[in-house]
This record gives sequence, C-alpha cells and structure tokens, in this order.
Amino acid sequence: MRSKTPTHPTRAAPVPEDDDAPLTVAEGAAAEGPHRPELAPPGLEGVAVAETLIGDVRGEEGFYHYRGYNAAELADALSFEQVWHLLIEGSLPTFDQLAEFRARTVELRSLPERVARFLPEIAGGADFVPLNALRTAVSLAADAFGLQPVLDIGPAELRGQALRMTAIVPVLLMALFRAHRGKPMVEPDPDLGYAASFLQMLTGNRPDAPHVRAVEKYLILTMDHGFNASTFTARVIASTGADIGSALVGAIGALSGPLHGGAPSRALQTLDEIGTADRAYAYLRAKVESGERLMGFGHRVYKTDDPRSTLLRAVALEMGGEQAKFAQHVEETALQVLNELKPGRRLYTNVEFYGGVVMNTAGIPREMFTPTFACSRMVGWTAAICEQAAHNRLIRPSAVYVGPQPPLPLPPGYSYG
Ligand SMILES: CC(C)(COP(=O)(O)OP(=O)(O)OC[C@H]1O[C@@H](n2cnc3c(N)ncnc32)[C@H](O)[C@@H]1OP(=O)(O)O)[C@@H](O)C(=O)NCCC(=O)NCCS
Repeated sequence: MRSKTPTHPTRAAPVPEDDDAPLTVAEGAAAEGPHRPELAPPGLEGVAVAETLIGDVRGEEGFYHYRGYNAAELADALSFEQVWHLLIEGSLPTFDQLAEFRARTVELRSLPERVARFLPEIAGGADFVPLNALRTAVSLAADAFGLQPVLDIGPAELRGQALRMTAIVPVLLMALFRAHRGKPMVEPDPDLGYAASFLQMLTGNRPDAPHVRAVEKYLILTMDHGFNASTFTARVIASTGADIGSALVGAIGALSGPLHGGAPSRALQTLDEIGTADRAYAYLRAKVESGERLMGFGHRVYKTDDPRSTLLRAVALEMGGEQAKFAQHVEETALQVLNELKPGRRLYTNVEFYGGVVMNTAGIPREMFTPTFACSRMVGWTAAICEQAAHNRLIRPSAVYVGPQPPLPLPPGYSYG
C-alpha cells in the first residue's frame, strides 16, 4: 500500500508512507502496461512534431533559412518589410506589393485610445520589467481589437490580425519604456520604415541611418529560428482555436525564460568586467577553469559558426567604435581559451555576443535587448500561427503515467470537506 490514512481529514491527496517513498519518474517509466504510450525523449529533442513551409535550422551546416532563402543573406540584402512579407505572405514582394505592404503596416501602428491610456499604469511599477509589461500590453491590445478565435475566422482575416499585432508591438514597447521614465510616447512616424521607427519611438530623435540598418539586420536575423520553444507554444495555443492574441501572449511568456530569450546583456557584462584587452585571457581562463560558462558562446544546435554571429560581427565592426574592436579581441581570446580547456566540444560564438554589441552601439538600453528580440520574433510567431490555423489539428500529446497502479481506493477518513 502506498498511502496512509491522513491525520487531517480535509487533506485531499494521498500521503505517501514515511518509509514508502513515491515512485520516481525513472522507476515508473520502466513499468510496462497496456496504456503506455511511446515516450518521446526529454525536451522532445530530435522529434519532429509538424511540417512547415516557414524555414528550418541546419546546425551542422551553420545555416538557417526563411522559406528556402538563406536568412543571413536576406538580412544583409533586404529590408525588414521585405522579409516580413516573405514570412507572413509566403513570397518576396514585388515592387508594388512592397509599397502596398508598407502603407498597410504603417497604418496598423496606431494604438487604440483605451490601450494608450492604460500603458503608464502598466509601466508604473518600481520593478518594471519591459518584457513582462509588453506581455500585459499585448493582452490588453488583443482584447481592445476584439480578436476572435482563429477557429472562427478565415486566413485573410487572420493574416490581417497578424500584421496588426506585429506592427503594434514596438509601439507598445517603446511607449511602456518611456512611460516608465515619465516621458510621453513618441507617435510612430508614417514616413519611417519599421527599423527607423523602432529607434525613433525609443529616443524621440531621428536615428542615424547606419544605426537603423544595423538594427534592421539584427531584427531580420532574429525573426524566426526553427521550431523553438516560443514558436511551439504559439502553435499549441493556436491549435486550440484560441485568438492570436492569446497565442502571442503565451509565446512572449515562453520567450521570457532564461533558457530561451536568455539575457543578451550578459555577454556585454562580460566585456565590462574584462575592461581592458590585456585582462581578457586571464579573466576568461579563470572563468572556464572555475566551471563557469562564457556568455555568448556555445549553442545547442550550431556546432559550427552561428551564421547570425558571423553577420553581426561584420555589422558591429562596420558600425565602428572601440567596443566592437574590443569585442573582437575578447571573442578571439575566448575561442582560444575554449579550445584549450574544452577541446572537441565545438563551441563557437553565438547570436548573443555581437547582438548585444550591435544593439548597444545603436543606443538600445540593455533591458530592452530581449524585448527587441520579441518584436522581431513576432514575425515568426505570427507566420507559425497562420500556418497552424491553415492546417490545424489540436496539439494534444500524451504523458506516461508513472505513479501507483490505479484505481487507488479512497483512503479511510476522507469525507466531503
Ligand atoms: C547555449 C548552451 C546552453 C548550449 O549548451 P549545450 O548544447 O547543452 O552544451 P552542453 O551543456 O552539453 O555543454 C557541452 C560542453 O561544453 C561546455 N560548454 C558549453 N558552453 C560553454 C560555454 N559558453 N563556456 C564554457 N564551456 C561551455 C560545457 O561545460 C560542456 O563541457 P563538459 O563536456 O566538460 O561538461 C551553452 O553553450 C551555454 O550555456 N552557453 C552560454 C550561455 C549563452 O551564451 N546562451 C545564449 C545561447 S544563444
């Protein structure tokens, strides 16, 4: 027997015997039974759960793509709007389509009055976390737009909602950031493209063209990246037929986890701590020797150069400034240290290392790094939601129950309470 009579009659769950610990998951997983579904590996690693036309990541090759086009090449050559069109509409826009798409998405940037009025309230707390505030504001905006369940609308209407939510997110984010500092929001300028408008709404000033282009490349590079955790989350919620706002709020929640959205500012912290070039080797070696990880290095999927870091290194160096040169020195030293102390682990620079340098040089504050990532990832999330809705089947996996053999008799001493 694996449970005992409770000492407190209102206690609702069986209490394990003191000398009879409950089965661990590992013990239970060994149990055989007629109802046992096949168990996927932890974290679903290596398991394909959908077919997609949006893109994928080829870690061994150091390559990822959006609808077949090399994502790094797209970021280097095209505008945010062109790649946004590619991901959400399924094709690169013609000249006329692009003009129409730009005009349409600029119009979608305006905030409903009742949302704008409430933003200072959301941003007011002393412990303001921009991504959490954004998650709340996205929920509010979705409600104000009266978004219906995806199950009840057609693909064109859903794509319209997807564009609206993507267009509105930087407006919400910058308004929240400024409200927290007691500053009025900067209305989006219809003459500016997504990236320029992004920076202008942050500072209130006309941004430098090289900064706009650098941030635009970062934003394009981070629009999508295979079937990551937040994209999966968005698809699970969309598969229930819920509205797109719910799916996006869930995706932002998943992104907020340190294992996903991470903390791109931590790589910059490393640069700050090192301080001067001559200290790099000793600092980095001591870190790795003490068992710590070097921020901005290593990746679960890329076992060769991360194509995002390759392009962002070039972008950072092109932007100029002491920090980029210093970062390059630290990167080279870190790779040398990793090679010496972690040989054969195939550790390379990841997106966070130069991503932080690029955003910092363009004037984006550190606490806005992950929210900036959320803005660009809206494109990937919304594309995934549209794809899910178009070929929907409720995502409803199983779990292997590994507890005591049911049905358990209700322990004596329990009554309604
Ligand atoms: C990204 C990350 C979580 C991927 O980890 P992973 O694929 O699970 O790799 P593992 O944890 O299996 O590590 C394999 C080996 O490489 C080492 N390693 C991995 N990343 C390392 C890093 N950044 N610095 C030093 N050593 C590292 C591990 O210590 C381990 O060494 P061991 O074999 O001696 O135990 C990991 O590389 C990391 O923590 N990087 C630093 C944080 C970071 O930059 N995150 C942003 C990712 S975009």
